[in-house]
Amino acid sequence: MNNLSEQFSKPLLDWFAIHGRKNLPWQLPRSPYRVWVSEIMLQQTQVQTVIPYFERFMQRFPNVQDLAAASEDEVLSLWSGLGYYSRARNLHKTAKIITTDYQGNFPNDLSLVHELPGIGASTAAAILSQAFNQPTAILDGNVKRVLTRFFGIPGHPEQAQVKKKLWELAYACMPQEQCADYTQAIMDLGATCCTTKNFDCYRCPLNNHCHAFLQKEQHQYPTKKVRKPVPVQQQQLLVLCNNKNQIYLEKRPPTGLWGGLWCLPSLDEGNCPLDFIRQEYDLNGDKPQQLIEFKHRFSHFLLEINAIRIKTHALGTKLGENKGQWFSKEKLSSLGLAKPTSKILSLL
Ligand code: ADE
Repeated sequence: MNNLSEQFSKPLLDWFAIHGRKNLPWQLPRSPYRVWVSEIMLQQTQVQTVIPYFERFMQRFPNVQDLAAASEDEVLSLWSGLGYYSRARNLHKTAKIITTDYQGNFPNDLSLVHELPGIGASTAAAILSQAFNQPTAILDGNVKRVLTRFFGIPGHPEQAQVKKKLWELAYACMPQEQCADYTQAIMDLGATCCTTKNFDCYRCPLNNHCHAFLQKEQHQYPTKKVRKPVPVQQQQLLVLCNNKNQIYLEKRPPTGLWGGLWCLPSLDEGNCPLDFIRQEYDLNGDKPQQLIEFKHRFSHFLLEINAIRIKTHALGTKLGENKGQWFSKEKLSSLGLAKPTSKILSLL
């Protein structure tokens, strides 16, 4: 056994056998399809949030052919609330590629998996190690934290030189056997013991040789990025309700913010909603009523939302031009809705 197996992978696997997560829905039963879908859902999303979405998704799409044959709207509706919707659109595209180019069999070669839409280097490795037990090393946020602390690697992990070093270390630590368990183990260690703030080094299986623990420098790793303040935007979202008690929604263009999802019409704060609906839709409405104000955080900006309800008159001759439609309240739950839109509609 070399040093790194003795000091890193062996104690980590022994710890995993006792403390690791072995009953996650995508582990029972484990298949390339289930592992792939779970890894896409788990990008930027916590396990506990993902579980119910994963189960509903598997019920509706038990295999890749079912997913490939579905409409994008239906895929997005099952994703509604998970955020980062390009993941769902890429998942759907990938399902079609696997069905047509790979006869429905998930490819088991790292470079082929990495070529699929929306699958980065670490996700490709996570899928292959868990689905096919291949020694492909991952380097997600948890692993970056574990490795920078264990080896005492300074510099922001996204800097090219630092990232290159971390990939080398990730591969140096990766065992040739029990690859699926190892991948889950290092993610679990990062999510439980080796957390950003309340790290629990006394229970960590790697504490005998961890640089940060031995030097009491856990807070210094990984080196933080200097953060720029996030810009703030303010918008009004309009709940337009017609005399049949239907709600007006518009489908967003396929790319960009909330791409492909149904949204309430929006206008910048400070503009008059009644003027807006007259100009945009040729609609008249009663006095606007305020429903709720809240903030929605995106990775690159903060949106302050003011939801306004307006009872409208007549059907609006210009509605069709805006890719919009009136929906009865019963129909809303089957649509792929942007998160703030579904939050506001749930109040009605
Ligand atoms: N994040 C990404 N993949 C994961 C997994 N398999 N288990 C826990 N967290 C994860």
